[in-house]
Amino acid sequence: METIHEIILGDSRELSFIKDNTIDLVVTSPPYPMIEMWDSLFSLLNPKVEKLLKSKKGEDAFKLMHEELSNIWKELYRVLKKGGIVCINIGDATRKIDDKFQLYPNHAEIIRQMTRIGFHVLPLIIWRKPTNSPNKFMGSGMLPPNAYVTLEHEYILIFRKDGMRKIEDEDEKNRRYKSAFFWEERNKWFSDVWTDITGVSQFLNNSETRERSAAFPLELAYRLINMFSIYGDTILDPFLGTGTTILSAMIAGRNSIGIEIDQSLIKTINTKIVQAPEISHSIITQRIANHEEFIKQQVKQGKNKHYYCSSLNFPVKTKQETDIVFYTIKEVIEEVHNKKWKCVYNKYP
Ligand SMILES: C[S@@+](CC[C@H](N)C(=O)[O-])C[C@H]1O[C@@H](n2cnc3c(N)ncnc32)[C@H](O)[C@@H]1O
Repeated sequence: METIHEIILGDSRELSFIKDNTIDLVVTSPPYPMIEMWDSLFSLLNPKVEKLLKSKKGEDAFKLMHEELSNIWKELYRVLKKGGIVCINIGDATRKIDDKFQLYPNHAEIIRQMTRIGFHVLPLIIWRKPTNSPNKFMGSGMLPPNAYVTLEHEYILIFRKDGMRKIEDEDEKNRRYKSAFFWEERNKWFSDVWTDITGVSQFLNNSETRERSAAFPLELAYRLINMFSIYGDTILDPFLGTGTTILSAMIAGRNSIGIEIDQSLIKTINTKIVQAPEISHSIITQRIANHEEFIKQQVKQGKNKHYYCSSLNFPVKTKQETDIVFYTIKEVIEEVHNKKWKCVYNKYP
């Protein structure tokens, strides 16, 4: 098996180089409106944003930032296949402007914009990052009533274009069955609150780039790709950042396209994706080890009714898991002539 990955340095508001109805899944996280680190970027996309912020018009700036994002959401609708899914990781923002502290509900505004474009809203996930540090408090500390609730979660919003995906032919059907996940993974992944994925270090160790990466964890993108696409599909991230979605797509055996406006991130992206073979091996072996442990526990509890997965030579809980196949990355090859990366895989084990 082989997959192809394309990194494009440019502005996602214009994706004319991607044909209509060609993308199977989008996994992305935009710059968060009203979070100060993104003020200058939104002002670059639309200089009116800076003027509104300077004249303390928070609500108007918030709306305008979302209008800029909306140009990209419209492009996603065009390039997605019928039945294609969009997963957007977003957090709300709190901010004090002109002595007025308030919440800017980014997740609600994105749902509003996406619905207006024509996407169907699917049940969303609350990503509650585990933390060891005590709650930071905002507002008047221990004195009622002017203390504020701390934001400790983000969202993964999920949308679909035009109803359920239809499986077209025998090849797609085979790829779908090979891409199944384990029963116990399903129970965890399809919960609407994720508490097991920790955030990643936000420090970008590179003097040529911005200080904070704003990256999401590899596990978050990898899980969404496994949940909502199949081997050989094409995944798009219009806000590629440090390249997490491309790395995840490589590991999951999907093709991918990532677009990033900040040219200084290219070295960071390239350094990340060359680690794909090593990371793919550790993720796949861990998934299988977890599954073996799960089956061991089942047997201990006297739950002995199992099916058999022939490629793993191991029991599974349901019939749908019997055709699962895993691949690890043998090699990542840079195709300099067409500015793409190719991954070559081994069937596991
Ligand atoms: C929240 S970060 C994404 C981080 C990414 N998920 C990761 O794991 O590294 C958003 C990224 O979108 C990029 N961006 C913002 N506007 C863009 C646009 N119009 N076109 C392409 N990229 C854009 C920013 O430079 C930033 O790197």
